[in-house]
Amino acid sequence: MIFEVLSLFPDFFSGFLTSSIIFRAIENELLQVKLTDYRTYSKNRHHQVDDYPYGGFPGMVIQAQPIYDALQELLLEGNAPVIYFTPQGRSLNQQILQNYTSYERIILLCGHYKEIDQRVRDLCISDEISIGDYVLSGGEIPALVFMDGISRLLPGVLSDIESANSDSFSSGGLGFPCYTRPDIFMGLKVPDILLSGNHKLIKQWASEQGILLTRTRRPDLIK
Ligand code: ADE
Repeated sequence: MIFEVLSLFPDFFSGFLTSSIIFRAIENELLQVKLTDYRTYSKNRHHQVDDYPYGGFPGMVIQAQPIYDALQELLLEGNAPVIYFTPQGRSLNQQILQNYTSYERIILLCGHYKEIDQRVRDLCISDEISIGDYVLSGGEIPALVFMDGISRLLPGVLSDIESANSDSFSSGGLGFPCYTRPDIFMGLKVPDILLSGNHKLIKQWASEQGILLTRTRRPDLIK
């Protein structure tokens, strides 16, 4: 999978790219993350990319031209979906992440300031995604969330894919509570069933716990 990230702050991604699962996936050539600073496409003498919004509204808007030119260059290398992160997008969920795992290359556009010029959205964007009903200062964190969520679904990225298959949302609801050693901590004991060695009953317990948790915390997920 290749992620092409367009951002005004490419340095923002360095910690993500050099840590844990993502770092290993890059080392193992399962993942590539290419960063483009679209400021370099600005035709402005000072590489300025933002301007005042028409209509006299407050805030700044990123101009269409640098983003459009950067996208055209990336799309010349091959077609790919172009995702723009915005609170106005559709809400990200596990199913959307799963669907995107089928692409070999995805272009991720991070805005900043107020918004990007609507015309570049109309012309170039194939999907708009929000990571929640709140406003962040840019699309960088949403892009990280998106890349992390997809990466762990790619074959070979997690050492134990079963682990991803039992996560919350993998079958629509929340996951089950997990325990590790010691079997008693601060007087609290690991449920006996998990020490029973009976894999069939353990699986059933995990499924029931997931359903219980979903019912109490996220009844909206129950179909
Ligand atoms: N940019 C700013 N806030 C955002 C959000 N909640 N989701 C996606 N992109 C954003």
